[in-house]
Amino acid sequence: MVIKTATFVKSSGKWQECPEPTMAEYAFIGRSNVGKSSLINAMMNHKDLAKTSGTPGKTQLINHFLVNESWYLTDLPGYGYAKVSKSIRKDFEKLITNYILNRKNLVNLFVLIDSRHTPQQIDLEFIQWCGESGVPFSIVFTKVDKLKPNIVIKNVENYKAELHKTWEDLPEIYVTSAEKKTGGDEILDFIQKTNEF
Ligand code: GTP
Ligand code: MG
Repeated sequence: MVIKTATFVKSSGKWQECPEPTMAEYAFIGRSNVGKSSLINAMMNHKDLAKTSGTPGKTQLINHFLVNESWYLTDLPGYGYAKVSKSIRKDFEKLITNYILNRKNLVNLFVLIDSRHTPQQIDLEFIQWCGESGVPFSIVFTKVDKLKPNIVIKNVENYKAELHKTWEDLPEIYVTSAEKKTGGDEILDFIQKTNEF
């Protein structure tokens, strides 16, 4: 898909404040600092459409971007940010889960996972929740430029094996680097195929 326009629409602190659900929507979720905002910028070919930071917890609201004037791309706050109080963390979780469960035009959620790590409990629990809640989602491995290609393959296979312990059918898997701008086109192809809303 050719990106002709990508514009910021609004930041929302509640799912009820999000733009009218009149167009297909795709959202990026994952741990704090996994690279959600960076991958959005890489895919949109835009340096700082979504704000990024080396410090986790940068994105704190639901951010809507309108792409090609026909679909929404949404940057969500990260989950599992350890350095905030338990009650703030709970507020974030509520914001995220309420958004996911109530957003009528959400076509697919992209769950981002740092390709460098072994499967982490918090991500596995989130994926489990998506599966049990019937949320349509895909898995996106990030930051693969930081690893040798053979290690990427090994880590992805390891992740699949972990998921197979619970699920027979696995979701679509994408392997990306915002730094090298790889993998985003496959995600955009998927969006192009599914964005009739
Ligand atoms: P929060 O908004 O805090 O939840 O984080 P986020 O998931 O949006 O992460 P963000 O895009 O802000 O990136 C976090 C850090 O990882 C930044 O320092 C980025 O430069 C770095 N980063 C993101 N993607 C990549 C990548 O593909 N490769 C490399 N090498 N670094 C990356
Ligand atoms: Mg962010």
